[in-house]
Amino acid sequence: MGNIIAIVNPKGGSGKTTTALNLAAGLTRYSDISSSCLIIDMDPHGCATSSLLGKMDGEVPSRTLFDVLRGAMTPHDGVTSTVYDENIDLLPSCPALESISRTHKVDRLKKVTDALSTSYGWIIIDTPPNMGFLTLNALVTADYVIVPTQCTGLAVSTLQQVADTIDKVKERQNVWLQNLGVLITMKDGRTDLPTDLLKQIKKIFPRKLFKTLITNNIKIEEAPSNFNSIYSYDSGCLGASLYRDWVKGELQRKHKALEKKKNEKMEELNISQV
Ligand SMILES: Nc1ncnc2c1ncn2[C@@H]1O[C@H](COP(=O)(O)OP(=O)(O)O)[C@@H](O)[C@H]1O
Ligand SMILES: [Mg+2]
Repeated sequence: MGNIIAIVNPKGGSGKTTTALNLAAGLTRYSDISSSCLIIDMDPHGCATSSLLGKMDGEVPSRTLFDVLRGAMTPHDGVTSTVYDENIDLLPSCPALESISRTHKVDRLKKVTDALSTSYGWIIIDTPPNMGFLTLNALVTADYVIVPTQCTGLAVSTLQQVADTIDKVKERQNVWLQNLGVLITMKDGRTDLPTDLLKQIKKIFPRKLFKTLITNNIKIEEAPSNFNSIYSYDSGCLGASLYRDWVKGELQRKHKALEKKKNEKMEELNISQV
């Protein structure tokens, strides 16, 4: 079963961390497959880590992904529980993670997820705002990518780089990597999306745009600094219903359809190898 999802976009402020947190919390509540979820925070800034551990004091957590990647701790020992939900665990980030990106190795995270994947139904990887080695490590081990993006000219101009990188990783290191979809975030609720930009997104990522649109919603912004997912923070707000409907509906439907396709392909390959 392919349930490792990397949340990727080199543009900062595109809604990666917000989507990673609310996707993970949504899957623990609404997944048909499994309610256990691990978040791996690959961003040295550690915004997901701070929110999930309920601490904004900048103190480095006692166990981190950095310790695991440098071999000072086993993957299981690096995992910590979170204040969000008993079904969400975390491999925390820390600033030193940045040094891993200078080692130019792309398969270090894969060794970690290989050791942990049977313990969790879902693994969600939050990534930094660049396409460097930390993000590449996430793409090399992921089954799926989700690309959150705002629908503005500047945001759309970074998407071709994401598409090209996914293609390269598929060619070189991870043939099974699939794009689960592009999620528009922070849409202005009062205006329609610019059709020219939508056209550009669809050209870069054909048939990949989620129909769900996440609009600007103050509760979505407030929830992480209150150490809650949007569903716990205000389950009745618009932001909660947008993320909830997406996870319950479109996201899981797409995941199931792509899994089915992948399994058929794998069976075919096995048959041709016999
Ligand atoms: N739908 C939304 N409505 C309002 N604010 C949002 C929404 N999505 C994200 N934000 C806010 O926008 C900022 C950037 O989002 P974030 O998820 O941290 O982006 P990234 O991880 O890509 O840098 C954060 O302050 C976040 O709270
Ligand atoms: Mg982030």
